Amino acid sequence: MTNGTLHDTIRAIRWADGKLHLLDQRKLPREQITLSYEAVDEVAAAIRDMVVRGAPAIGVTAAYGVVLAARAQFLAVGGGWKSAIEGDLDRLAQSRPTAVNLFWAIERMQSLISTLTDEDPEPALLQEAIVIHEEDIAANRRMGELGAALIESPCAVLTHCNTGSLATAGYGTALGVIRSAYAAGKISAVFADETRPWLQGARLTAWECVQDNIPVTLLADGAAAHLMKQGDVKWVIVGSDRIAANGDVANKIGTFHAAIAAKYHGIKFMVVAPTTTIDMAIACGDEIPIEVRPASEVLGLNGQTVAAEGAKAWNPSFDITPAALVDAIVTERGVVLNPDREKMAALMSGGTTDCD
Ligand code: MRU
Repeated sequence: MTNGTLHDTIRAIRWADGKLHLLDQRKLPREQITLSYEAVDEVAAAIRDMVVRGAPAIGVTAAYGVVLAARAQFLAVGGGWKSAIEGDLDRLAQSRPTAVNLFWAIERMQSLISTLTDEDPEPALLQEAIVIHEEDIAANRRMGELGAALIESPCAVLTHCNTGSLATAGYGTALGVIRSAYAAGKISAVFADETRPWLQGARLTAWECVQDNIPVTLLADGAAAHLMKQGDVKWVIVGSDRIAANGDVANKIGTFHAAIAAKYHGIKFMVVAPTTTIDMAIACGDEIPIEVRPASEVLGLNGQTVAAEGAKAWNPSFDITPAALVDAIVTERGVVLNPDREKMAALMSGGTTDCD
């Protein structure tokens, strides 16, 4: 095993035998169950219900969902499949609102659809979905190198949510940087917020790190500022679900808190996301749709109610970190330091790297 593969063994999305196979992330870490899908509406439900989650993973899954939709419509109506598929794609797009990778992937598949004839679309669409899948892994590996290069000397890092192989096609965004930096001897300790209420940190990041031999220490989200005060953490490293044209970042609820605390303590804040997560049509973070999930996720734990009977709950799933709190946005095209509108536009318009 090379350093690259030593800390990278998990894959959550697989296409085999004409079916989409997803590792059920609702069950991790206690059970490792893979569910198989042959119908696009089931794929949409899997995204909505968080069998698969994480912005790039949602995009890759949706691409395979389009393949399944096209297959079913071609079988049902033959040459009329292109118009018949439209309702399927609308329902797929409604599965979750914040991660722009979902819409990006559907639009990319739609661009290909517009070039196809009335013949069987499955081979061409499947090929495109596989390319999307492979491109995401390649982007993550590149971001891993670029992000690790920003870490100058061995230090502790803090991450939030799950941004690893489970949240992407493989390797991960923020966790990809952590994988690369750990392999390069640049990380003395990985701290992971448990990430209430869905516990992506406690259940998924901790599981990935343990599986891939990266020592990890969990903390309650509310302990992060106190940890930062101890002085060992030099970088907070997170992913994103959508980055606006001005560099504002939507990510898992609690990220904004971590960014404010990092700024207070003089700790650097790194956002790691492929360009498929950047939405230049959204001017600033206030315009990003924020998913509000069921109150039951806050009122209970593992299906058991823990809150006082009669209490209500507010459960926004994401928050917006203003660009002013971000030291670096790491993409596969390069790093944007102290992001703003001009630097984001330069990155997206021509592969500018290391903008400052
Ligand atoms: O609600 P989730 O689990 O889909 O939220 C995931 C996140 O917020 C991740 O940090 C984000 O998608 C980046 S992961 C590569």
